Amino acid sequence: MRGRFITFEGGEGTGKSSHAATLAQKLGAFGVGVVLTREPGGSPGAEIIRHVLLSGAAKPLGPEAEAILFAAARDDHIRNTIEPALARGRWVICDRFVDSTRVYQGAVGGVDEQLLRALERVTVGELRPDLTFVLDAPIEIALARAAQRRGGDAVDRFEDEGQEFHERLRDSFRVLAMSEPNRCVLIDASGSREAIAEQIWAVVSKRLNPATAPVRLEGIAP
Ligand code: TYD
Repeated sequence: MRGRFITFEGGEGTGKSSHAATLAQKLGAFGVGVVLTREPGGSPGAEIIRHVLLSGAAKPLGPEAEAILFAAARDDHIRNTIEPALARGRWVICDRFVDSTRVYQGAVGGVDEQLLRALERVTVGELRPDLTFVLDAPIEIALARAAQRRGGDAVDRFEDEGQEFHERLRDSFRVLAMSEPNRCVLIDASGSREAIAEQIWAVVSKRLNPATAPVRLEGIAP
């Protein structure tokens, strides 16, 4: 039986990575075989492209070239990590996926929609997440969290953008979540970690019924 595909989306500092990890742990404890992964990255080839993108090295090439690099990373990730895991009945939890391209490069970055659609067609094809959590928080809260998490490290390529950029990201993610209500669930991520994790678990239990998943054999894969 094919596994399920769950993605987490949202702006900087909304807590996606930590909630993706918490959900993976809960599903694992429940007996579901889980692969926790992320974008850009999630396969050896895509991790190399991640470095090029997040270091800012590709920024001078322009937003179209960045979009093409995100797509190249996604293609490698799908072929080498996501599809093989789903085919083995694993549930794949991915920290960011194609909605990030639609919002960061498309709605906010201004890359032509036709180019993005063409890239989606050749990379993701028919693959669609079964469920997408869009985490939403006021940007003052989210950016403060991102800064705290970063500690003394330098900001990355996208964190470095101004306040207006982050407001537009937030608005665009909200619009996207509302435009696909069957797939997307908008989560108010300004509350306590525990309450948000419970809300996420309730949605997964109701919509995807983990009790029907193939029994875990290998636990959480890297
Ligand atoms: P990451 O360090 O994973 O941060 P975050 O916790 O915010 O996910 O950085 C990923 C960055 O790449 C993030 O700023 C969003 C950006 N991004 C895009 O612009 N387009 C994409 O398609 C993806 C997957 C990510």
